[in-house]
Amino acid sequence: MMKAIVRTKYGSPEVLKLVDVERPIPKDDEVLIKVHAVSVNGSDWEGLRGKPLYARFGGLLKPHYHILGSDIAGRVEKAGRNARQFQPGDEVFGDILPRGGGFAEYVCAPEKTLARKPASMAFEEAAAIPQGAVIALQGIRDKGQVQPGQAVLINGAGGSAGMFAVQLAKLYGAEVTGVDNAGKLDFMRSLGADHVIDHMQEDFTQNGKQVDLILDVIAHRSVFAYTRALRPGGSCFVVGGSVATLFQILFLGPWIRRTTGKKIRILAVQPNLKDMITITELCEAGKVVPVIDRRYPLSEVPEALRYLGEGHARGKVIISMEDNQ
Ligand SMILES: NC(=O)c1ccc[n+]([C@@H]2O[C@H](COP(=O)([O-])OP(=O)(O)OC[C@H]3O[C@@H](n4cnc5c(N)ncnc54)[C@H](OP(=O)(O)O)[C@@H]3O)[C@@H](O)[C@H]2O)c1
Repeated sequence: MMKAIVRTKYGSPEVLKLVDVERPIPKDDEVLIKVHAVSVNGSDWEGLRGKPLYARFGGLLKPHYHILGSDIAGRVEKAGRNARQFQPGDEVFGDILPRGGGFAEYVCAPEKTLARKPASMAFEEAAAIPQGAVIALQGIRDKGQVQPGQAVLINGAGGSAGMFAVQLAKLYGAEVTGVDNAGKLDFMRSLGADHVIDHMQEDFTQNGKQVDLILDVIAHRSVFAYTRALRPGGSCFVVGGSVATLFQILFLGPWIRRTTGKKIRILAVQPNLKDMITITELCEAGKVVPVIDRRYPLSEVPEALRYLGEGHARGKVIISMEDNQ
């Protein structure tokens, strides 16, 4: 048996319970991992509440997966029959969305979703990286193709993915504007943002300024607003947000491209070990910092999720299993 934070319905953090459940058994291509740390992402908060609608991907009325938590770091306890890459004792980390299962003492994950944790990196730091950093790398480097001197705006820059996106855009030489709530302005500056905007005070699509790239992790505006905020030839990539905005981008994005030359697209992030390793190397070299705001024990996952969901986190929120080892 093992301890896990379980829910059987969508709702507020109150639906989460710390209970004893059966320890999972790895399938042939999986490994069983003893979780040492797991970070909390916006996707956990969305998955808890089942909002926006895409968060119900794994069950429209009731969640199919009962244990949330996808950015895990831990030690391999047992390898499945066909698992060749990792052996018991190996230290690994990775993003196991959409299945999750990380808010538990043990979790099974396919080998192909995991990378070896550098010995010099703490489990908590490794758990802070996978999802947010890969979103940021694919948005800023691959899709955004940021060049030195370009103006980049990140909406939701004080969150998990935004935190990495600001640092990467600065690393690639951009002039960066970070947008988030008033409590995160200093945090965004500390990450390197040249300009910061409190989204309650100023709408970046209405202030008359234009940028070369927008990366929006919490999109809720119309395609016309994004078009207005982009310089000629500019691009906007949306990672998450309201379903209405996502649909509008799907249907009107190609037309905007034809008529204005501006690109507005949904960024479907491909979990990717190569990208995760690239970011990890940048972290080891001190070029990107996986900032950790707070640590909570497993029993306090509901408080951790509430802290992130209610907008207080300035950096990653980590569930640390130290107390359970
Ligand atoms: N496309 C894909 O393939 C893919 C893959 C994985 C995840 N995702 C999505 O990625 C998204 C971002 O995740 P994350 O982990 O970075 O989330 P996060 O840590 O919750 O960060 C979101 C940030 O946006 C801020 N925010 C909220 N409303 C805002 C507004 N109106 N204007 C500006 N900022 C606002 C939040 O601050 P407050 O604290 O004020 O709320 C928070 O700092 C999620 O929606 C997730 O589902 C997408």
